[in-house]
Amino acid sequence: MDNFSFYSPTEFVFGKGQENNCGALVKKYGGSRVLIHYGGGSAVRSGLLDRVKASLDAAGVTYVTLGGVQPNPRDTLIYKGIELCRKENVDFILSVGGGSCIDSSKGIALGVPYDGDFWDFYGTGKPVEKALPIGTVLTIAAAGSEGSGASVVTKEEGMLKRDVGSDMLRPRFSVLNPELTQTLPPYQTACGATDIMAHVFERYFTNTPEVEITDRLCEAILITMVKETPRVIENPDNYEARANIMWAGTVAHNDIVGVGRSQDWNSHGLEHELSGLYDVAHGAGLAVVMPAWMEFVYKHNINRFCQMATRVFGCQMNFENPEATALQGIKCFRKFLHEIGMPINFEELGAKAEDIPVLVEKLGIGDGTRGGFVSLTAADVTEIYTIASKATL
Ligand code: NZQ
Ligand code: ZN
Repeated sequence: MDNFSFYSPTEFVFGKGQENNCGALVKKYGGSRVLIHYGGGSAVRSGLLDRVKASLDAAGVTYVTLGGVQPNPRDTLIYKGIELCRKENVDFILSVGGGSCIDSSKGIALGVPYDGDFWDFYGTGKPVEKALPIGTVLTIAAAGSEGSGASVVTKEEGMLKRDVGSDMLRPRFSVLNPELTQTLPPYQTACGATDIMAHVFERYFTNTPEVEITDRLCEAILITMVKETPRVIENPDNYEARANIMWAGTVAHNDIVGVGRSQDWNSHGLEHELSGLYDVAHGAGLAVVMPAWMEFVYKHNINRFCQMATRVFGCQMNFENPEATALQGIKCFRKFLHEIGMPINFEELGAKAEDIPVLVEKLGIGDGTRGGFVSLTAADVTEIYTIASKATL
């Protein structure tokens, strides 16, 4: 196991009705003037926004609101949010929505105290030194942004999707009420489930030996997702299954299962170009890319893929032909994704094979490589997109 430092300061407040405590939570973490940031309308329709406002009113906390965050959140709304926060002397941002809303909130949070353009931090590695504190009321189990220090934003000009990561961006608190996810359409539920599993796989495929504890934690999350996702697709009101998925989504990405081991993240990198170019859901893009990436890299460590196949998907180990077991595990993953309603190739996603050179170009690998479980050249990435473009069950 590698050396590590793990800092996860977020207070997670879990369960039914917990959104009614967000006024007290904002106060606890020093907020007195709040920006409530929300998405395209689901929080309004469900009455959640009114409950959040009532909770802030009851705590004597004043607020302004800014809605309209789109999936794959855009820089343009973040500029508006920064201006509004400065004008209104906002000292705390409360995100009410999904990962897109949280990531937009994080963009505003780092932009308000910064003199330059907030975009300077995205895709550049520039360290974040200051940010407004944020809290979240999560409405979809997916991105894990409620516990992560990451923010992923799309620059509208050129549809460039880039990220920033910093412990400064970890929410002070996150309210996780699984009931709030019961209004999700099955497709969004499945996109979220795919993203949760992908966050685990990005950490599971490691070159660090002897990481039994985090391997087993990863497998626990993956097995949970394989069991619970079909239950909520079948019955969206299944609270207990929703609850297990919601907590899985947080622990999949706050890095507790990724510490002390090298991680990959190439499937995410390749996916961000797809959701950047076609504005498709991140989870749907991952469903197409991740099994293709697995098929391209599995020979690098067949035993690890056998471990996934046998422990997560219950495949029988073929000791005479381990490669067959490894491939069987990848097949099971793709079949699972198909069964929960995810696309498995470019056509089903709404992507085009003829755009592959554009996707590769936007990744900006040039003559170099992208590091990870396996380092990838531009030619490797072209091959992975090609596998993804024509995948079948
Ligand atoms: O905008 P509203 O009306 O709320 O609709 C949303 C949106 O259309 C809807 N929705 C959310 N909660 C709902 C609901 N509809 C009905 N009932 C509810 N309870 O679902 C749609 C998707 O929402 P979004 O916030 O986009 O989903 P998600 O949480 O999957 O976030 C995706 C974004 O997160 C980024 C992705 O790249 C993508 O841009 N990621 C962020 C990460 C991070 N910050 O750590 C890591 C991830 O790997 C990911 O890259
Ligand atoms: Zn993701």
